Amino acid sequence: MTKVEDLDLVPYFDTHVFCCINQRAKGHPRGCCQEKGSVVLRNYLKTRAKEAGLDRVRINAAQCLDRCEYGPVVVIYPEGVWYSCRTKEDMDEILERHLMRGEVVERLLLRPEDVPARAASAS
Ligand code: FES
Repeated sequence: MTKVEDLDLVPYFDTHVFCCINQRAKGHPRGCCQEKGSVVLRNYLKTRAKEAGLDRVRINAAQCLDRCEYGPVVVIYPEGVWYSCRTKEDMDEILERHLMRGEVVERLLLRPEDVPARAASAS
């Protein structure tokens, strides 16, 4: 059996940016990223990445990433870095610093210990 690590593949994209655009019914206790403007923000980042010529970066729409309370939520792979991005200025900073310069945007960072209360009480 071939193991994944044995494959010598060149990735089709270097980076995937997953932007949650999940929508829930109004009044849901966890809320959702879409009610906080995530569709507009995701489309904005996608346009800006294209304008910047980031051909090796894919801006993906994602369903719920299970950190709804911090939304709109973005996670970038392969780094596995999570952000809470609420404005176009936040997305500009993700683009210009993380995606173009490889810097972590500390002020937007979601750390592993940032666990929604619902998930924390379930564990
Ligand atoms: S709705 Fe976006 S993380 Fe759950």
